[in-house]
Amino acid sequence: MLIALLTLFPEAIESYLRASILGIAGQKGLVDVRLVNFRDFTRDRHRTVDDRPFGGGPGMVLKPEPIFDCVEWLEREHGSFRRILLTPDGEPFGQTKAAELTSEERILMLCGRYEGFDERIREELQWDEISIGDFILAGGELPALAITEAIARLVPGVLGDERSAELESFQHGGGLDYPHYTRPRVWRGKRVPEVLLNGDHGAIDAWRAETSRTRTAERRPDLS
Ligand SMILES: C[S@@+](CC[C@H](N)C(=O)[O-])C[C@H]1O[C@@H](n2cnc3c(N)ncnc32)[C@H](O)[C@@H]1O
Repeated sequence: MLIALLTLFPEAIESYLRASILGIAGQKGLVDVRLVNFRDFTRDRHRTVDDRPFGGGPGMVLKPEPIFDCVEWLEREHGSFRRILLTPDGEPFGQTKAAELTSEERILMLCGRYEGFDERIREELQWDEISIGDFILAGGELPALAITEAIARLVPGVLGDERSAELESFQHGGGLDYPHYTRPRVWRGKRVPEVLLNGDHGAIDAWRAETSRTRTAERRPDLS
C-alpha cells in the first residue's frame, strides 16, 4: 500500500514515520508512506501556497493551483488514489473507516493549514472528507498520522500478532477492550483476578467478554 501525505511541513512528520509500527510497516515493504510538499508545485518566485480570503476576515486560505498540480503529478506517476481531505467538518473517523481503507492500494491525504482550503479544491476532486474529532488543530499533519497509523496496524503482516488488532476496542463495530494484567501477581496489595491465573481458557474468555460488556455499557452506552 502506498500512502502519500501532502503537507507543507514534512519535517514535522518524518521522525514519527520511522518509529515503531509505521517504521516496521515501511521496512517490511507493507506500507510505503511518502511525504510530498505541495509548496514544490508552486510556479511563482515566492512559492506562494496561500492568499487572503475574498470577502475579508482573518487568516489565509490555501490556493487551489499547487494542490491540484501536486495531486495530478502523483496520479500521473502512480495511478489513481483514494483521496482524503482532512477537515474538522468532515465525516468523523473511526475504526470501521480504517478497516475499509486497508483494501486500498493507494491513498493520498491532504493536510490543510491556516484557515483551510479554497472551497473549489473540495468541489473539483472526489474526496473522502474526514475529521478526527470536534476540536481544531493547527494543521492536518496529526490527523493524517493518526489515520495512517490506524490503517497500517490493520494491514496483514504489520503487527507481530494478528490477533492484537482483532481483539481491540471498536473492531468490527464492537465495544471496548477488556482489562489487561501482567506480572507481578500482587502489586501494592492489588491482586490480579484469580480467573486469569488458573489456565482455564473457557473461563478466561467468559470473564473477558463480560468485563468488555460491562465496561462498554458504563463508558460508551452508545456502542452497546
Ligand atoms: C486551523 S484548521 C482550519 C479550521 C477551519 N477554519 C474550521 O473552522 O473548520 C487548519 C487545518 O487543520 C486540519 N485540521 C484541524 N483540525 C482538524 C480535525 N479535527 N480533523 C481533521 N483535520 C483537522 C485541517 O486540514 C484544516 O484545514
